[in-house]
Amino acid sequence: MRKYAIVLAAGKGTRMKTNLPKCAFPVLKKPMISYIVDNVTKAKIDETIVIVGYKKAIIEEIYKGKTVYQEKQLGTADAVKMAVPLLEEGICIILPGDAPLLDDKIIKKMIDEHIKLNNEITVGAMNREDPFGYGRIIVNSNSIERIVEEKDATEMERKIKLVNTGLIVVNNKLLKDVIMKVKNDNIKKEYYLTDIVELAKGNKIGYCVLNGNQKLVGINTLEMLNKVEEYIIAKKIKEFMNNGVCIVNSNTQTIGIDVIIEPGVIIYPGCVITGKTVIKKNAIIGPNTEIHNSIIEEAAICKHSVIYDSSVGKNTLVGPFAHLRMNCVIGDDNRIGNFVEIKKSKTGKNTNAAHLAYIGDTESGERVNFGCGSITVNYDGSKKHKTKIGNDVFIGCNANLLAPVIIGDNAYIAAGSTINKHVPDNSLAIARSRQENKHDYSKKIKNKCAK
Ligand code: UD1
Ligand code: CA
Repeated sequence: MRKYAIVLAAGKGTRMKTNLPKCAFPVLKKPMISYIVDNVTKAKIDETIVIVGYKKAIIEEIYKGKTVYQEKQLGTADAVKMAVPLLEEGICIILPGDAPLLDDKIIKKMIDEHIKLNNEITVGAMNREDPFGYGRIIVNSNSIERIVEEKDATEMERKIKLVNTGLIVVNNKLLKDVIMKVKNDNIKKEYYLTDIVELAKGNKIGYCVLNGNQKLVGINTLEMLNKVEEYIIAKKIKEFMNNGVCIVNSNTQTIGIDVIIEPGVIIYPGCVITGKTVIKKNAIIGPNTEIHNSIIEEAAICKHSVIYDSSVGKNTLVGPFAHLRMNCVIGDDNRIGNFVEIKKSKTGKNTNAAHLAYIGDTESGERVNFGCGSITVNYDGSKKHKTKIGNDVFIGCNANLLAPVIIGDNAYIAAGSTINKHVPDNSLAIARSRQENKHDYSKKIKNKCAK
């Protein structure tokens, strides 16, 4: 049986009170829609269709798969209607685009229940102490009768704690039929997907009570977003601590959902570790370090630094105060920092850039020393150019390497030089004016002033 997923991500997210479409909003630096697509992928769904609408280009920049456009956000049923022509025979699971933690296990459970019970519709339900904002499920002698939205509910109905998670599994054939019958005769004048339950009366409709309330939260406000972030961080920290990761002052840490940290790592206070970051065993991170989408190899130390989309080799020291970005590959046993920025560059083993340097668009060999204040001058005002540095190169302090330039193996660059020609292997390049000493200069000046 072919399984489809329809993800509803066309809404503006009015209650967020921001301009970004809600489903693009970052949850610990990962957009909400990416969580959902990852969860659907893990659940092995055959085909995923994401409904886009408000500022759709932003969502499509994040999600490169199949999308369908809902021009006006007339409600969740209207959104589903847009995808219906793409459905062939099979079943379909409809997911809200604002519930990032609805994971593959929940999706699979819903589909299994639906198939096992031979349902036409299965609604994912949960019990909430505070049901505010959710659609209430009206049950009549154990079968689901209808779902009433917060704004349309009577006072009595609002007291119901069994609510709709937004996850609904439907047989495609039935969906195609009932979705066209949904009307917007409600307070919000919206086409509610939840109305399909009542419209499909007479078919076998079930509900599945899902556990794990926090995973089922649909984010409507920034306050709810914050709660979801806190939940993810607490869960990750617990998991890591139970696996031999030492996390000092854990309530100062921010750790994203996809981060992997191996046993033996120490994380000092004030770190923000997000994206697909992997920190290998015995590394020491922090204090106050931001790492995003990066790999930190064994026993590396990264303190007071910012590392984006890069990798740091074994036993390498980064920081204090280093900034690595845009696919840097830093070799083993390097020393990078204080106040060093490296962009889109590769360094070989045993390289030092220990103070005040900028290295950009550079490929450098092993055992290279970047002296204090050395700069690869990669930008000519319109284009970026590359610098290539061989093995065993010594770059003196305050040297400018004007790219494009090649520095050969075993070369020396004299301090204060501005290098704009290639330097052959084994050479010393000096490019500065010669020093001249004026003897007894001070005496002459003083005599002149005394007169
Ligand atoms: C919805 C459900 C509610 C359920 C809750 C669970 C309906 C009518 N209500 O309410 O029963 O308890 O989710 O979290 O379905 N969207 C579109 N196009 C639209 C409108 C919305 O794509 O025209 C998308 C939104 O971007 C969002 C999702 O659908 O990702 C849900 O919309 P939202 O407005 O958050 O619905 P809720 O009021 O939370
Ligand atoms: Ca919602």
